[in-house]
Amino acid sequence: MIVCHCRSATDREIRRAVREGATSLREVSAHCGAASGCGGCAEAVVEIIGAELGSVPRSVEYDRAAPQS
Ligand code: FES
Repeated sequence: MIVCHCRSATDREIRRAVREGATSLREVSAHCGAASGCGGCAEAVVEIIGAELGSVPRSVEYDRAAPQS
């Protein structure tokens, strides 16, 4: 399922990023591009990261990824 429509990033890609070591929104964004456009998907991405990690990461809620140009 596409979670980030700006970057066409799916929930599977986000989960894979976490399984490969990403622990923050910024790191997931760097890995698959999620939340690096308008930012509208950030909360959904954070939820997926939290579910994959088993808890909400301490810094992820406010760790907005920088928009890509
Ligand atoms: S929908 Fe993800 S950055 Fe816009």
